[in-house]
Amino acid sequence: MSRFILITPNAEYERRVRIATAPMRGTLHYFQAAYLPSGPDEVLSQLSGEPPEVLILGPELPIVDALKFASIVDLQFPEISILLVAEEDPATTLQSMRSGVRDLVSPDADTDTIRAAVERAGLAAAGRRRGLGPTAGEGPMADGGRIIAVMSPKGGVGKTTLATNLAVGLGQTAPMSVVIVDLDLQFGDVASGLLLQPEFTITDAVAGAATQDAMVLKTYLTMHPANIYALCAPNNPIEMDRITGEHISHLLTQLKSEFQYVVVDTAPGLGEHVLAVLEQATDAVWVCGMDIPSIRGIRTGFQILSELELMPANRHIVLNMADKKTGLTLQDIEATIGAPVDIVLPRSRTLPFSTNKGIPLLQDGSRDAALKGLRQLVDRFKPNWEARPHKKLHRRAVVQ
Ligand SMILES: Nc1ncnc2c1ncn2[C@@H]1O[C@H](COP(=O)(O)OP(=O)(O)OP(=O)(O)O)[C@@H](O)[C@H]1O
Ligand SMILES: [Mg+2]
Repeated sequence: MSRFILITPNAEYERRVRIATAPMRGTLHYFQAAYLPSGPDEVLSQLSGEPPEVLILGPELPIVDALKFASIVDLQFPEISILLVAEEDPATTLQSMRSGVRDLVSPDADTDTIRAAVERAGLAAAGRRRGLGPTAGEGPMADGGRIIAVMSPKGGVGKTTLATNLAVGLGQTAPMSVVIVDLDLQFGDVASGLLLQPEFTITDAVAGAATQDAMVLKTYLTMHPANIYALCAPNNPIEMDRITGEHISHLLTQLKSEFQYVVVDTAPGLGEHVLAVLEQATDAVWVCGMDIPSIRGIRTGFQILSELELMPANRHIVLNMADKKTGLTLQDIEATIGAPVDIVLPRSRTLPFSTNKGIPLLQDGSRDAALKGLRQLVDRFKPNWEARPHKKLHRRAVVQ
């Protein structure tokens, strides 16, 4: 049984892949070659036993041939996940995704990085053999990835700031496994907050072939240098009318089967699209400003969603732009909301600049009072967070 296939002339790379896959179930079949055969049959006919799951097109293969080979494998054997070993640049990434490559791995990647990429590819292959449904089995991806809705009833409280920083922060621990979706369909600003000029938007992603094939859908995503993907809001606000709640539901089902984290930035309020997100969200990050309308809005939002039974399982309350001078205390706010605040982000001088530059704080690492809270937010989504003692966080929340 060979679950993994590697083609490359580079024997040193083979050694790394062998070490990386050693602890995993299944074996590695190595083809030492500097060229690719005309079709996958030539490779597959030499294997016996269980069908392969992950094909690694290793270093030093001609890139054009590798991409062509990937397209054919993707078409004929969609259940096989393909990894391409190549230096990452926007053009190669786009071409690779269009050829059905699941992930790019750097030629310099160490064995841990290779193992993580092969594991993810293996999970995706398992998911695809069962159709588009979520990956079954044990572990955090058992029902597909986490869908994290960043929400607030009121506008301008920092949803986009938190969503972009969260996505970038998660991308540091789970590269290529995070997608940020801008569901502020009329006035979305994820693209500007991440300095992206998307070629395609959500309007393309909810129509045509993309709805049937996750690989086509991936070609409509925009790559960000922090190793995350983005699905940006329509260029024209009018396009919102063409996007229904059902479109959003289907889109999220597709994305969670491909990504470990789907971070959704939303429009203020509880409109049709936000409710569609909440039906599937595993987590809601509630963003609350330090003013009475914002705090009351959160309380009413909680009441409505509890009645509709649409409260996501995991709740994270962020008090943003915290400032002692507002005359409100943390205790007042928690009493009004009826729940403890999990994270306090102080009013910051740097955040407005970072929004205007299009570089999230967690990307450029500038020193800032808000940095600690942003890191705490990201930590809450790391796989072993639940296991850690964290109750004290509530007690430590202080407004400065
Ligand atoms: N803690 C903070 N301190 C200072 N400024 C902040 C803070 N958080 C966010 N901002 C700034 O507030 C402005 C509004 O933030 P943002 O766009 O993230 O809010 P939003 O909730 O997404 O707004 P909308 O509802 O319009 O989508 C931005 O300029 C951002 O830089
Ligand atoms: Mg916003």
